[in-house]
Amino acid sequence: VSPNVDVPPCYYNTSNPYFIESIQYSSSGIVANLSLDSSRIRANDEFTKPISTLRLEVKYHKNNMLQFKIYDYQNRRYEVPVPLNLPSSPTTTSQDREYEVTLQQKPFGIEIRRKSTGTVIWDSSLPTFTFSDMFIQISTRLASQYVYGFGETEHTMFRRNMSWHTWGMFTRDQPPTYKLNSYGFHPFYMALEEDSNAHGVLLLNSNAMDVTFQPTPALTYRTIGGILDFYMVLGPTPELVVQEYTELIGRPVMPPYWSLGFQLCRYGYRNDSEIAQVVEEMKATGIPYDVQYSDIDYMERQLDFTLGSRFAGLPTLINKIKQEGMRFIIILDPAISGNETEYSAFSRGVRDDVFIKWPDSNEIMYSKVWSFLPNVEVNESLPEQTQIQLYGAHAAFPDFLRNSTREWWKREIKEYYDNPTNPEKSVKFDGLWIDMNEPAAFMNGAMGGCKNDLLNNPPYMPHLGYRSEGLTFKTPCMEGQQYLPDGTPVRHFDVHSLYGWSQAKPTLDGLQAATKERGIVIARSTYPSSGKWAGHWLGDNTAAWDQLTKSVIGMMEFSLFGISYTGADICGFFKDSEYELCIRWMQLGAFYPYSRNHNEKGTKRQDPAAWNATFVEITKKAMNIRYTLLPYFYTLMYDAHAHGSTVIRPVLHEFVEDNKTWEIYEQFLWGPALLISPVMTQNAVTVRAYFPNARWYDYYTEEYVRYKKEYRDLPAPLDHINLHIRGGYILPWQSPANTTFYSRKNPMGLTVALDDAQFAQGQLYWDDGVRIDAYEDGVYLLTSFIANKTVLDIRAMHRGYTDPNNLMFTDIKVLGLSVSVKKVTVSQNGGAIASPHVVNYDNTKK
Ligand code: GLC
Repeated sequence: VSPNVDVPPCYYNTSNPYFIESIQYSSSGIVANLSLDSSRIRANDEFTKPISTLRLEVKYHKNNMLQFKIYDYQNRRYEVPVPLNLPSSPTTTSQDREYEVTLQQKPFGIEIRRKSTGTVIWDSSLPTFTFSDMFIQISTRLASQYVYGFGETEHTMFRRNMSWHTWGMFTRDQPPTYKLNSYGFHPFYMALEEDSNAHGVLLLNSNAMDVTFQPTPALTYRTIGGILDFYMVLGPTPELVVQEYTELIGRPVMPPYWSLGFQLCRYGYRNDSEIAQVVEEMKATGIPYDVQYSDIDYMERQLDFTLGSRFAGLPTLINKIKQEGMRFIIILDPAISGNETEYSAFSRGVRDDVFIKWPDSNEIMYSKVWSFLPNVEVNESLPEQTQIQLYGAHAAFPDFLRNSTREWWKREIKEYYDNPTNPEKSVKFDGLWIDMNEPAAFMNGAMGGCKNDLLNNPPYMPHLGYRSEGLTFKTPCMEGQQYLPDGTPVRHFDVHSLYGWSQAKPTLDGLQAATKERGIVIARSTYPSSGKWAGHWLGDNTAAWDQLTKSVIGMMEFSLFGISYTGADICGFFKDSEYELCIRWMQLGAFYPYSRNHNEKGTKRQDPAAWNATFVEITKKAMNIRYTLLPYFYTLMYDAHAHGSTVIRPVLHEFVEDNKTWEIYEQFLWGPALLISPVMTQNAVTVRAYFPNARWYDYYTEEYVRYKKEYRDLPAPLDHINLHIRGGYILPWQSPANTTFYSRKNPMGLTVALDDAQFAQGQLYWDDGVRIDAYEDGVYLLTSFIANKTVLDIRAMHRGYTDPNNLMFTDIKVLGLSVSVKKVTVSQNGGAIASPHVVNYDNTKK
């Protein structure tokens, strides 16, 4: 008996009954047929009985990317309809391929090796493989204990704990809670090899599943439908893994410039004048602030595309703040009420046949979510759940997989924006926040009860928490009938976790068709490739200290998932926030790509204007740094969009050869060059920070700090977030202003942080900030900077955009020059540069 309570006494009760019957090798891959040794089958249940013949297909797509797929070739099964970017014909040669695949015949297994090192990075020659209709299991040995990814779940470190933990995946309206799966579904991991090479693995499957980490180290997947369709990228660095993965699934969306500004939201604004009041108070603080929100409060009885009477002044308010250079985002929930007498979103939805129905029937499947019935007197003192029970309307779920639904949704969005019958009442939003798209319901299943027990309570129930509720916990029934764009019927059971994914693109398309500008969509539920169209906030967190670290882990993980526009609700969603917590959170949140303070109805105000003058000063200091560095940050967003690099970058991505960084999750980088070491614990006046092997300059003093490959306890008084610039990089910046509309007109500067060899480089991507496809259409400016000892060379690499503000680098700071400066000469052709400012600490300190 094992003393370790984590170790299950007897874990696997299957023994791999498959063997390879025939193999065909070709220059582009392997095809093998697998057969079942029926003497070894134990399960006799129809749905968990192994399928007698399977096919394995290994495809060498690229030198650094391969696919291996195991499926039933005699019977068509559901396969994930998410398109991937695969080369139409393989672009590899056996010589240049970075991997080697060998098969084990009996029992069946696949082994994948990194050729350059001989390291085995996948080895499924284990006795646990089985493939039945509703239970598919495969295990692999791993190359090390260092595995990152799999989401969306809450856990305590960035790297995954390998000591017998099982994690479920199935999209759910589940606030971040340890061990439970939340809103998104990302069956992707990045793993390190002992020699610090890295690879990534995607299992393209969307059925409810779980994964178990074992100390061997090994990994077991169990999914209850679909097929096994694995994609592996060979890196060999963590950063390249993400670039290769996003090349496969699609690169992150390019957000508009204004969406990098600070944003303020809350649930529970009583009317438009309350929002107007908050906006005025915020403006009076002088804290940079670009975006204001309205949550579902603006709607009439929480019905999409309506405007409640208490928010009749919202259109005017939005127009006013937009005149002042700000922006506005509204929320949309997917479910549409079916109880209204005149509600065009519903009637047109019925006309266009957009809603999920019961199978073999023409009846819409209704559940309950936010919308209330017409003509009810709502008793607002009742708990939210009771209100839903009493007043909840029949909620129909649009099937966003269908073309008809996508078109309908886009039209509804555009019509709400234009309001052709009453243009002066049109709501001129700039971005859309799509919530509840797991899809979430405030009851289990649907009205009338679910009927297909096999689908709703499958024979194997993955480890999702709330197991007695089956799969319908807070979501409609699994037998819901959906259709792929080509008309192929699919069960909600199979595509449940694609719901938010399927809503993202039509929402962005609708938004941009309405505004005719680049917009931003923030989605709660995501799946691989959601990042192409949307960002993600980390959901309904709590105003508690541990959530700060969790948010950093969450953002780093979403970097791996190819979603770069992320952030948590600053100061916490649930519960009243507290002064010190909220200050530290504003400082950290100033470095979230998606920087939004948001809280729950009924909680105390927690926006920066709600506290005191000190709070304002401290927040302003942090936000001014954010706004100062936005040109650098926007360039990182461009780099993610164009090349798939990460924006919120785990320290290990830049310093993987130093295995101390493999454990770091209390610090993170903005791209390669800015190290952020936030305080995330109460009453702290110092922060313990690791300094990897580079030259680091204190952001504030611009001093070369001389910490290298060591932990340091840095002073971190309440008004200070530690930031360090990495030598070797040049950061473009711009004087801050109260909104990005104005900061974009301010003079620019460069901070040249020299490395030990007196070298530095960087770039600036700049466009008008709002043009759709500015990068794709080439309407941008890309400037590169190279500093080599005493020469700084600034060069336009792409000149597709001229800024109307005649921007100049009026301030150039050089940090760490080892010779004393006697004279500065500026030579240029055309562009103007003024007054370089050289900071020469090295020299003065010696
Ligand atoms: C969900 C969202 C939250 C929002 C609330 C009301 O809980 O996650 O952000 O405020 O719904 O719309």
